[in-house]
Amino acid sequence: MKNIVLIGGHDETFMHFEGLDFNFIVLQLPESQGKNLAALTNKIHLVNDFSEITIIEEIDKILKTQSIDYIFSFTEDGLLSAARASQHYAIPGIDYETCEICICKPLMRSRLEHTEFAVASKICKTRRDVEAFFNCYPNGMVLKDPTGSGSENVFIIKDSASLLDTLERLNHENIVMLAEEFLNGREVSVETLTIDSQHRVLAITNKQLYKTSLAEEQHIISPDNLDSDTFSELSRYCERLLTAINHTHGPCHIEVTIADGKFHLIEVNNRVGGDYIGLLVELTTGVDLFRETLRFHSHEAESDTTNTQLTHYKFAGSHLFYEPLNPDMIRDYMQEVDIIRLVMGEANPPLGRPHINDDKIGLVVIASNDRKKFYTAIDHLNRLSSAS
Ligand SMILES: Nc1ncnc2c1ncn2[C@@H]1O[C@H](COP(=O)(O)OP(=O)(O)OP(=O)(O)O)[C@@H](O)[C@H]1O
Ligand SMILES: [Mg+2]
Repeated sequence: MKNIVLIGGHDETFMHFEGLDFNFIVLQLPESQGKNLAALTNKIHLVNDFSEITIIEEIDKILKTQSIDYIFSFTEDGLLSAARASQHYAIPGIDYETCEICICKPLMRSRLEHTEFAVASKICKTRRDVEAFFNCYPNGMVLKDPTGSGSENVFIIKDSASLLDTLERLNHENIVMLAEEFLNGREVSVETLTIDSQHRVLAITNKQLYKTSLAEEQHIISPDNLDSDTFSELSRYCERLLTAINHTHGPCHIEVTIADGKFHLIEVNNRVGGDYIGLLVELTTGVDLFRETLRFHSHEAESDTTNTQLTHYKFAGSHLFYEPLNPDMIRDYMQEVDIIRLVMGEANPPLGRPHINDDKIGLVVIASNDRKKFYTAIDHLNRLSSAS
C-alpha cells in the first residue's frame, strides 16, 4: 500500500477518503482532531502549526521509519508547506511554484501581468503609496493583506471618506499591503478539478455577502447562475488561467467578476472552495473533489464517485449564519427542500468591526430538483438573516 501524508484539513475532509487504498498519515493540529479523522487512520501526528519548519521536521521523523509516496493538503493553511515538503523531498504532491502563485497575491498579479488575466496592482508601504494609488484609480481600489485569506484585512476604498477610514485602521509603522484596482461587476466563483493536467470546470457558484461586510453569507450552484454562452466562455477563460499558472493536479476555486461580458480575476486558490462549496459541487455533479484528487494516485482505475451517487440535484445552496436562529424554525421553513447539513452555534460577543468569514456561527446546506421550491427556501433564508 502507498503511504500518503496529509497536512491538516477540516474534519469533514477525511470522510471522503474511506476505502481508498492508501496508508494515511495525517499531520494535524490538536484542536482540529475529529471523528472522521479518527475513523480514517490512527497514524495522526499532532503538530503545533503548519509552518514549513514544523512540517519538514515532522516529515523527517516519519521518513526515518517509512517511505512516503505522496504529500497533499486540502486546507489553505497547509497548502504551501505541503508543496514545499513535496519539492524538498521530491515526493509527488502539490506543485510549489503554482501553489506560491495562488497563496501570494502580489506574485499572482506580477506573473499574470501582460496576459488577459492582468489587474493593476502595487505593493503599498506608506500612507502616501496608498493615496497615490487611489489618485490613479479614483473610481475604486482595494487594499489587502498580500497573503490573506477569509476576507480578513481586505478594504474597499471608493471615496475619500473610505480612504481616510482605511488608513486610520492600518498600523502605520509597517504597512505592507497590496493595492488593486477595483473590479466592477457581479462576483462568481468557478470550481474546477484538474487531473493529470486535464482541466474540468464543474460548477459556477453564485456568492452573496453578509450585510455590508465582505464575509460570505450564501453560495448557490444552479443552472440559473449564468446563461449557457457565458458559462462556456467563463469555463474556457478558467481553463486558460489554470494552464497559465501551470496547475497540473487537484481542485481550484477561482474568483471572478463579470462586467459587460468581460471577466476579471480576483484570485485563484488551489483548493476546494470553503463554506461547503465542495459539498455543493458533489450534490450537483456527483464529483467528489477531495476523493478524485487522491484516487488518481490510487489503484482504483475507474472513478467511483461520478456515477454512483444516488441523487444529483439541480440546485444546491449553503447559507451561513452570523447571528443565532432557532434550528427548528429553519427546519420548518425548509420543509419543501432537502436539508443536507444544519449546524447552529452560540452568538458572538459584539465585534466592533465588520464581520469576516471566521465569525460564522452556523450554517445550513439545502438541495432540491425543483426550481420554485429551492428559491422559495432561499428567499426564506434571506429574510430570516436580514431580520436577525
Ligand atoms: N480587486 C478587487 N475588486 C473588487 N472586489 C475585490 C477585489 N479584491 C477583492 N475583492 C472583494 O473582496 C473579497 C475578498 O478578497 P480576496 O479574495 O482577495 O481575499 P481573501 O482574503 O483571499 O478572501 P477569501 O479567502 O474569502 O476568498 C473578494 O471575494 C471580493 O468580493
Ligand atoms: Mg478570495
